[in-house]
Amino acid sequence: MNETPPPAQTAHAVETALLAALLETEGDYVSGTHLAKLVGLSRVAVWQHMEKMREMGFGFEAVRARGYRLTDKPSSLNADLIAAYLAPRKLSYHLRVHATVDSTNDEAARLLASGHPAPLIVASRRQTKGRGRFGRVWHSEDNGNLYISFGFRPTVVHARMATFTLWMGVSVCDLLANFTRAQPGLKWPNDILFDGRKAGGMLTEARVDSDQIRDLVYGLGLNVNSAADHWPEGLHQRAISLAEYLRNPLDVNRFTAALIGRVIDAYHQFIAGKHTDAMAERWARHDVLKGRDVAVLQGERRVAGVAAGIDDEGALLLKTKQGRTERFHAGEVTLEKTPPR
Ligand code: BTN
Repeated sequence: MNETPPPAQTAHAVETALLAALLETEGDYVSGTHLAKLVGLSRVAVWQHMEKMREMGFGFEAVRARGYRLTDKPSSLNADLIAAYLAPRKLSYHLRVHATVDSTNDEAARLLASGHPAPLIVASRRQTKGRGRFGRVWHSEDNGNLYISFGFRPTVVHARMATFTLWMGVSVCDLLANFTRAQPGLKWPNDILFDGRKAGGMLTEARVDSDQIRDLVYGLGLNVNSAADHWPEGLHQRAISLAEYLRNPLDVNRFTAALIGRVIDAYHQFIAGKHTDAMAERWARHDVLKGRDVAVLQGERRVAGVAAGIDDEGALLLKTKQGRTERFHAGEVTLEKTPPR
């Protein structure tokens, strides 16, 4: 009787499956026969895939009668390694990793507009036109930092999205706190801070069609492994990387895999409306503004007061000197130079 041939696989799928099997044993040997069976290829084909992966920065030790062991991993973003870390989660997603792209937000938006299935993730080691809020430049060198965008097709009314970036912010900060034991802070509405310096920024953009969101792109720039003294003048007083804060480099691929899992979970919770109860309390855990003297800038308008958290709609609450509580749905916040109360 003929055996059914294994389904045809892409080189990426084979390499991800090999890496996942080697990661699972945490540095122990896996037999060539087991790996060959796993991917439905010959042992020679497995060896050829490994040779190819060596060129990407992977190291394998091959010992007769014992098999293969993973000895080295690339330190820069690698799609197969991220997918291998994520394999146990069995999530459905599409990941692209670029060496250079104009903006991961723009690339994700183009893919969604061209009908690419969602959720899709575009990550890049470098951006030539990285963008922040208010059209500002997001400095995006190839220096171990992370530039990543998630494309979704939520089909919900526009009004429901008001708290989306805030919810993503608390989800990313919870992950950072678990992953690094560090204390991240959130500065309304989209900054992630460590020690009062900016470590990350979020930029959510949407294509709206008769009040329904069609395409949604959530972008995150996170200073992971850059050395502050390599940043342009003026930036390193205001910015910090995780590696600098932790005094240790971070495995950017393992972190990116955890981030993808967390963002996809957070997206589904948000769409199902499961975020509303936990939102204000979880924001408060990371809120760096609460109780501080701040000023909110909205175009020409500047309002000073004491930050008092956020409301259910994600608006920033500000207690003014006149005793009023003002709500802000948009604007830029600056901290006044007074110590916390
Ligand atoms: C901000 O703080 O103003 C938001 C910065 C957002 C930067 C990220 S990097 C990945 C994604 N691609 C972009 O062009 N921007 C976002």
